[in-house]
Amino acid sequence: MNDIAGAYSARAAEYIELLGTVELMHPSDRELIGTWGDRVVGEAIDAGCGPGHWTNFLAGRGLDIRGVDLTLAFVEHARRAYPRLRFATGSLEALGASDGSLGGVLAWYSLIHHAPDAIGPALDEIARVLRPAGLLLVGFFTGAAVEPFDHAVVTAYRWPVAELTERLRASGFETVETHTRTGTGYRPHAAIIARRVKV
Ligand SMILES: C[S@@+](CC[C@H](N)C(=O)[O-])C[C@H]1O[C@@H](n2cnc3c(N)ncnc32)[C@H](O)[C@@H]1O
Repeated sequence: MNDIAGAYSARAAEYIELLGTVELMHPSDRELIGTWGDRVVGEAIDAGCGPGHWTNFLAGRGLDIRGVDLTLAFVEHARRAYPRLRFATGSLEALGASDGSLGGVLAWYSLIHHAPDAIGPALDEIARVLRPAGLLLVGFFTGAAVEPFDHAVVTAYRWPVAELTERLRASGFETVETHTRTGTGYRPHAAIIARRVKV
């Protein structure tokens, strides 16, 4: 995890410039993330919030949301850019919320660096903090097989939707919706909305 935070710290300014505002994002991502937020009941965490632009976007739609990220440079930027919102350093493996206390968790491209043998604890932690029927939204790179590739910042993984769906099921989620998008000029993208199953 230190490697990930270090790699993002080294390129934080570049990332913020290229990817750090919602206006730079695909319109269908704004639509999906926004309407997901409208369905969340109660508090939410933007887990792996990066520069905090999605946290701010969702807060602007009325969601009670805070951001958590491993990379201090992003947290410091987010605090400066959105001073009325809450951001903290932390990890997807320890979200700093009590059991069943949240209505939603956004993990938008923040699980992409988790190797297949490391993603389980993060999904378990998200399941722990969500109340029954709480909603997780995951955005990720997709492909035909789980495989690593050379991401601009640090090694990332592609996941077939079915494979990540199965990992989510194993951590206590049922899939509500899946979305995929392919096109020229960007890597195939997928998103899953998953509901915390009642225990
Ligand atoms: C590709 S960026 C996505 C950031 C933001 N969600 C966005 O959409 O721009 C990945 C982010 O996940 C964070 N991250 C990666 N692994 C993490 C972990 N285990 N715990 C918390 N944050 C993590 C990184 O620091 C980075 O900010």
